[in-house]
Amino acid sequence: MGKKVAIIGAGASGLLACKYTLSKGFQPIVFESASTIGGVWTKTIETTKLQTPREVYQFSDFPWPSSVTEDFPNQHQVLDYIKSYAHHFDLLKHIKFNTEVCGIEYEGSSEDEMQARSLWGGSGEPFSSKGKWKFVVEDKQSLSTEIYVVDFVILCIGRFSDVPNIPEFPSNKGPEVFDGEVIHSMDYAAMDYDSARRFVRGKQVTVVGFQKSALDIAMECSNTNGLEHPCTVLYKTEHWNVPDYLPWGVPLACLYLNRFSELLVHKPGEGILLSLLATILSPLRWAFSKFVESYITKKLGLAKYGMVPKHSFLQEISSCLISTVPEKFYDRVQEGSIILKKSPSSFSFCQEGILVEGESSHVKTDLVILATGYRGDKKLKDIFVSPTFQDYIAGSPNATLPLYRECIHGRIPQLAVIGFSESVSNLYTSEMRCRWLAELLGGTFKLPSIKEMEKDVEKWDEYAKRYSGKYYRRSCIGALHIWYNDQLCKDMGWNPRRKKGLLAELFEPYGPTDYVSS
Ligand SMILES: Cc1cc2nc3c(=O)[nH]c(=O)nc-3n(C[C@H](O)[C@H](O)[C@H](O)COP(=O)(O)OP(=O)(O)OC[C@H]3O[C@@H](n4cnc5c(N)ncnc54)[C@H](O)[C@@H]3O)c2cc1C
Ligand SMILES: NC(=O)c1ccc[n+]([C@@H]2O[C@H](COP(=O)([O-])OP(=O)(O)OC[C@H]3O[C@@H](n4cnc5c(N)ncnc54)[C@H](OP(=O)(O)O)[C@@H]3O)[C@@H](O)[C@H]2O)c1
Repeated sequence: MGKKVAIIGAGASGLLACKYTLSKGFQPIVFESASTIGGVWTKTIETTKLQTPREVYQFSDFPWPSSVTEDFPNQHQVLDYIKSYAHHFDLLKHIKFNTEVCGIEYEGSSEDEMQARSLWGGSGEPFSSKGKWKFVVEDKQSLSTEIYVVDFVILCIGRFSDVPNIPEFPSNKGPEVFDGEVIHSMDYAAMDYDSARRFVRGKQVTVVGFQKSALDIAMECSNTNGLEHPCTVLYKTEHWNVPDYLPWGVPLACLYLNRFSELLVHKPGEGILLSLLATILSPLRWAFSKFVESYITKKLGLAKYGMVPKHSFLQEISSCLISTVPEKFYDRVQEGSIILKKSPSSFSFCQEGILVEGESSHVKTDLVILATGYRGDKKLKDIFVSPTFQDYIAGSPNATLPLYRECIHGRIPQLAVIGFSESVSNLYTSEMRCRWLAELLGGTFKLPSIKEMEKDVEKWDEYAKRYSGKYYRRSCIGALHIWYNDQLCKDMGWNPRRKKGLLAELFEPYGPTDYVSS
């Protein structure tokens, strides 16, 4: 075939991209800045477990080993599973470890020429005879650099690592005035388990955030320090963090991850009939949400702690903000070794701790751990050298990242992104995208015009804004995964209906094994 494909990153997405491009006859080179595969799973905090049930976080053609029986395997089991996938499909020989791609640059067409295009890359094809991507790769051990020139780049650089989201503070109100220490959850995760315990032991810790990293770290601090040094969790927004996936005994997947549940919401690009149906069924949509909310409220006793969220569960799942609550988390709140403190607008630092807006006294603190998430958008933007491409990929600050099928930017040729937009099972989602991309590279189908792609992106943006509220920038397809997969299947010429019989098609949840074969 002769076309050179570079994959940047050897986490789950990069490995999948490698496997599926190989299946189409390409010989990809995978650049991985770390010394091993697995991305985020290579180093996590001690208590990390998969929070997606194992059966939906699996490679479609490579089941979990029978030795793993837990529904939510721990991080070591997940990493072993990902590694055994790479060994099984003999992917390691394609990976260059300790190699960091420092900046990618497109050569071959002027910006004016690219602006004037109506088709992706000018022809709608994934490759071009004159356009190439050039980049510098640094060997992190020898510090030597090498230049590579390739025909296609697949960015699998991950979204939840490397670039932390650090809140901004006015001058004299930031960490510089604080006598204690401030770290990000990423730094805490980088420590070995004993060091992490020693680091927090005997300290008044404040954890900022109320998603998965914050919950787990607060729990670990409470395990180490107990009542003697309670851990404060400073949060902006209450969330529908889930105790389990069986609200009132009904599998959550039956309420949100089957075709029937998708009939209840308005879908990007739907026709009049589906739109009408979603409107007629909206009371049911509301009832499903209330059903789950009532269960979580009761099971965790949220009302007692003033922790009932203002937004709906539908918004939470539509934003992929489903964090599992560590077991006994609210018991710790009850006993007082975890203190929940709301800071609705902003907080700042003083010498001895943290000041919450509107309060006169400070929260006395020795150590602040910012579990405030990541700037995956910035990481993606910064890998481009061209400011024009940086602007294209970042899109408007008031919209979701403008990726067609969540993979391709209409105005950035010969390049795909895998693993930015989220779902509730990211391995499955990355695999679907890699299969779609491999078919595109193999010439099975062509992309529509740039205008059509942009229109489609706008429709998904409208969907995100309608159902994810202020979290639309998370670009979550979680609650519309089947509708999304249908589009990929149609592009690839696959039958989107994967179940046997109408009832199963409507009510059985979909997952990776539904797509084992084309
Ligand atoms: C602690 C944690 C737990 C999670 N749990 C779940 C879960 O339960 N369920 C779920 O669905 N999702 C979960 N996620 C989301 C998770 O991000 C995905 O499931 C998935 O593992 C991401 O894989 P990835 O390959 O896209 O990205 P990553 O795993 O982030 O891999 C990116 C790789 O790219 C490399 N890289 C980056 N930049 C460069 C560069 N310039 N040059 C060379 N290499 C580069 C990195 O070193 C890394 O190895 C979790 C995330 C975290 C952080
Ligand atoms: N499987 C696991 O066990 C596991 C463990 C860790 C992480 N993860 C995954 O990794 C990803 C990242 O998770 P994460 O918890 O690190 O980040 P996250 O999901 O992005 O959550 C960030 C948290 O920080 C808060 N926050 C952001 N900016 C803030 C500010 N300026 N002031 C106060 N609070 C602020 C947010 O509050 P608002 O909501 O109010 O904005 C939110 O509670 C997620 O996909 C998560 O599921 C999984």
